[in-house]
Amino acid sequence: MNASTALSESPLWSLQREWYEARASDAFAEVPHQVLDNPFVSAAYARVVLGYLRDCARGKLDLDEPLYIVELGAGAGRFAHGFVRELGALLDALPLELPPVVYVMTDFSESTLADWAANPRLADAQIDFASFDVTADSTLQLRRRGIVLDKVANPLVVIANYIFDSVPADAFAIEDERLQECLLTVEGEDIDAMDLTFERRPVQLPHYGDAELDDLLEHYMEELDDSVVTVPRAAIDCLNRLESLSGGRMLLLTADKAYTTEAGLAGRPEPEISRHGSFSLMVNLHAFGWWARRRGGDMLDTGDRHTTIAVVALMIGGEDGQPETRQAYEDAIERFGPDDLMTFTEGLERSVDAMTAAELVSLLRFTLWDSYTLIGMADALVAKVAEADVPTREDLRDALYEVYERHYPVPGEGDLPFTLGLILYELEDYAEALDCFEASLERYGPDASTEYNIALCREQLGQ
Ligand SMILES: C[S@@+](CC[C@H](N)C(=O)[O-])C[C@H]1O[C@@H](n2cnc3c(N)ncnc32)[C@H](O)[C@@H]1O
Repeated sequence: MNASTALSESPLWSLQREWYEARASDAFAEVPHQVLDNPFVSAAYARVVLGYLRDCARGKLDLDEPLYIVELGAGAGRFAHGFVRELGALLDALPLELPPVVYVMTDFSESTLADWAANPRLADAQIDFASFDVTADSTLQLRRRGIVLDKVANPLVVIANYIFDSVPADAFAIEDERLQECLLTVEGEDIDAMDLTFERRPVQLPHYGDAELDDLLEHYMEELDDSVVTVPRAAIDCLNRLESLSGGRMLLLTADKAYTTEAGLAGRPEPEISRHGSFSLMVNLHAFGWWARRRGGDMLDTGDRHTTIAVVALMIGGEDGQPETRQAYEDAIERFGPDDLMTFTEGLERSVDAMTAAELVSLLRFTLWDSYTLIGMADALVAKVAEADVPTREDLRDALYEVYERHYPVPGEGDLPFTLGLILYELEDYAEALDCFEASLERYGPDASTEYNIALCREQLGQ
C-alpha cells in the first residue's frame, strides 16, 4: 500500500502517463472521445475561433508572422483534422487580411507524435507537431518547421479537449469555515482495479506558498461551505506558462466533464475518479474563469446547463470586449452546442428504426456528416433504402460521400468502409460497394461477412 498523499502527488498520475505512452493512438479504443471528436464540434470551435480572429483583426496583428493555434493533448488527431478543414473553409470565405494560421498538434506521448508523423491525413502543411507536457513545458519545438516558440508575435489560440481532467489537481474539504486537504491512498498498480481511499487532514492558509493558488483557496473558503472543491493545480500552472508564451493575448477553448459555476461546486463530496483504462476527474473550470478575470479577462460558459461536457472560452488580453468572439460562442456553443448534440442524437439514435431514409439523411446532415452516427444508423438505413424515392436515394449517395470524405480513422471504431458497402449495395451501386468491401478487407483483415458481400457484388457485376 502507498502512503496517503495530496491528490496531485498521487502515484496515479504517473501510472496514467505510462498508460498513454504505451498505447499511443490505440488508447482511443478504450478512452471515450466521440463526444468531442466529430465534425459538428470541429465546426463549432472553428466558428468561435473565427470570431476571435475577427476581433483580433481590429487590433494589432503582425501579418508577417504566423498566428498559432495550439492543441494540447491532441490524442488520436481526429479533432485537429476536422478543425483545420472547417476553419480553412471559413477563412477562405473571409474578406480580411490575417496572418497565416499554423495549427500545432501537441501531446506528451512520443508514441502518439510518431503516429501523427506517419499519418498521411495530417500531411497538410498548415499542421505542425510538438511535444508539450501540460504539467511542465513552456516552449514549443515545431517538428516540421524546425523552430522553437518561446513567445509568439500574434495572439495565441489554445484548444484543450479532455486534457485538464487528466493532469494533477488537489482536493480540499471546506466545512464550518475549516479547511481540510483530501489525501489519497492508492492500493494496486492496475488503474481499473486499484483501491482508492480519501482521508482528510486539517491544513492552514497559506497552504501552497503560491499567492495565486492560496488566493483561490481563500476565495473558496469565503464562498463555499460543506463542499469538497478541487484546485486544478497543474492546469493553472499551465495557463500561466501559456500566458507567457502568448505575450498575454490568448483564447483558450476547452471542454471537459466539469463544474463551471460556484453553484455547481457547492455541496460536493470527495472527487470521483472515473476509470476507463486511464482515469479522469471532474474539472473545476470555475477556477479557470477566476484565473482569467483576475487578469481583466473573461470566461464564456453555459452556466450549469451541460449534461456530458462543458465547453468554455477563456480570453485574456482582448482590447474591446471581444464582441465577435462572444457572438460566435453564443451561436456555436451556448444556443445549441456540443453538449446539446450529444443529448439530442442519443435520443434520436434510439428512434432510428422509426425514421424514414429521408429523415435519417437529414439527421446525418445535422451532425455535419459524422461517421459514428452513420455507423449507428446503418441497419436502419439498409432496411429503408428500398422504399426511398429517387431524390432521397441521390441525397443518400451524396451523404455517404460527405461522411467518407471527412472520415479520420481512429482505433476501436466501427468499420466505416463495410457500412458504406452495405448501403451502396442496397442502392444497387455494386461497383462502389465492391470498392468499399475491399477497402474494409484491406483495413480490418479477412472476415467471412466481408468476403460474402464481395462475392455478392461480383455476382451482380457479372465478374
Ligand atoms: C483523454 S485524452 C483526450 C484526447 C483528445 N484531446 C480527445 O478529445 O480525444 C488525453 C490526451 O492527453 C494526453 N495527455 C495526458 N497527460 C498529458 C500531459 N501531461 N501533457 C500532454 N498531454 C497529455 C494523452 O496522451 C492523451 O492523448
